[in-house]
Amino acid sequence: MRARGMEGDEEEVQSSKTRIFTNKIHKAATTQSVITLSDYVQDLTVDIIGEVVMGYDFRAQLTEDGYGEKGPKGVLTAMKMILGWMFNEEKALNPFHRFNFLRPIMLRYYSRIVDTRLAEIIDSRASTQKPLSATRSILNLALQTDDGPLNPRLRKNFISQVKSFVFAGEDTTSTTVQWIIYQISKRPHVLAKLRAEHNAVFGDRLVEEVLAERPQAALSGMVYTAAVIKETLRFNPPAGTARSAPKGSGFSVLVGGERMRLDGSMLFVNHHIIHKNEKYWGPTASEFIPERWFSPDIKDILAAGAYRPFERGPRACMGKELALIESKVILALICREFDFEKAGFDGVTQEEVYDVSPILPKSGFLPLPGSEPLFTGAVLWSRALRMM
Ligand code: HEM
Repeated sequence: MRARGMEGDEEEVQSSKTRIFTNKIHKAATTQSVITLSDYVQDLTVDIIGEVVMGYDFRAQLTEDGYGEKGPKGVLTAMKMILGWMFNEEKALNPFHRFNFLRPIMLRYYSRIVDTRLAEIIDSRASTQKPLSATRSILNLALQTDDGPLNPRLRKNFISQVKSFVFAGEDTTSTTVQWIIYQISKRPHVLAKLRAEHNAVFGDRLVEEVLAERPQAALSGMVYTAAVIKETLRFNPPAGTARSAPKGSGFSVLVGGERMRLDGSMLFVNHHIIHKNEKYWGPTASEFIPERWFSPDIKDILAAGAYRPFERGPRACMGKELALIESKVILALICREFDFEKAGFDGVTQEEVYDVSPILPKSGFLPLPGSEPLFTGAVLWSRALRMM
C-alpha cells in the first residue's frame, strides 16, 4: 500500500495507539515509500488488544522485528508462528501438512512461550491489582471478582481466556481494517463521504481530544463510517465458523427438495457465499455499496441471518462492539490525513481465479494447479439459517 500524506479509558487507548500508527504512516508517506499494510495494522491491533484485554502494552508498533516480544522467543513471534502452523493457506491445501511431524512439536513449543508470557503478565497484574477505575482491562475486571491470590485453577482459566481474546481479536480486526482501506482506496467517492462526516464530527480538533471528551456522541455520529465498516464486513468477511454434527445424531438438511444426511460431518458456515447471495441482497449483492445499510429492507435481511460476520446466537463473537469501535477510531484518524493506493498485485477477476489458484480436484485432495473448479458444496453452505 502506498500512503500519500495530506496537509494537514477504551476510546482513548485506541486513539493513542492509532496515533502511533498514523505517525508511522506519515513517515512512510513523506518518503513516498510503499508499505506492507498488514505489518502496520497487525502491530496496531495487537497493541490495542493487549491494552484492552490485559492492560498490557505489547509495544508491537515500536519494536523492530527480531527484538523484544518480536524476538525469537518473544510472545508476538510465538503468536504469529502458531497462526502460521495452524492456518497457513498453502499448508492447509497440502494434505501432508496435517501429518507433518514438526507441526505438533512447533505448536507445543510456541504455545508454551505464549502461555508462560501470558502467565507472567497475569501474575504481575494480580499482584499489583489496581482499582477498577485505574485500568478497565478485561483482566482487571475479572481480577476484581477474586479476593485472595489467584488459585491455580483460576489462573489456568485466565490464561486460556486471555489467549482466546488475544487470538480472536487481533487478526480479525486487522484483516477488516486492511480490507476497509483497500475498499476506500478503490472508491474516492466513499473516501470523500467519510471525510465529510469526520469533518462534521471532529471539525478541526484532534480526534483523540474529541473522543476523550464525548466518546459516545462522536462514535454514534459516525453513521456513514459505520455503514462502510458493515459493508466491508459483508463484502470481505474476515472470519467464518464451523460446527460439527455428531455421528449418529441424524442431523440432516433439505437442499433443493432433497434431504441430505450430514451427521458425522464438519459444517463450515461460509460468510463469503451467504453475504453475496442475491436472494437476500438483491441484484447488487456483488457490489460494494455502503448506502444499502440505510435502506428500510435491511432489517429483514438481518433477521434472515444473511449477515453474520460476527456469527449469531450464544457463541457469537464477544468482541463485536470493540472491533466496531476500533475500526471507527482508526478510520477517524486516517481518512482525512491520507490517500491510499494499492501497490503491486491487485487481485484477480472471478475468471482468473481458476487459472492462478491451487485447485482441489473433485476426485482427490492433491493441490494441483489446473482448471477444475474448487469443490465447495457451495449450495449447502450458502443457505442462511433463519433460526440462528
Ligand atoms: C472484525 C473483527 C471480528 C470479527 C469479524 C470476529 C468474528 C468472530 C466470529 C465469526 C466468531 C465465531 C463465533 C461462532 O463460532 O459462532 C468469533 C468468536 C469470538 N470472538 Fe470475534 N471477531 C472479531 C473481533 C473480535 C475481538 C476484537 C475480540 C476480542 C476482544 C473477539 C473475541 C472473540 C471471542 C472471545 C470469540 C469466541 C466466542 C465463543 O466461542 O464463545 N473477536 N468472532
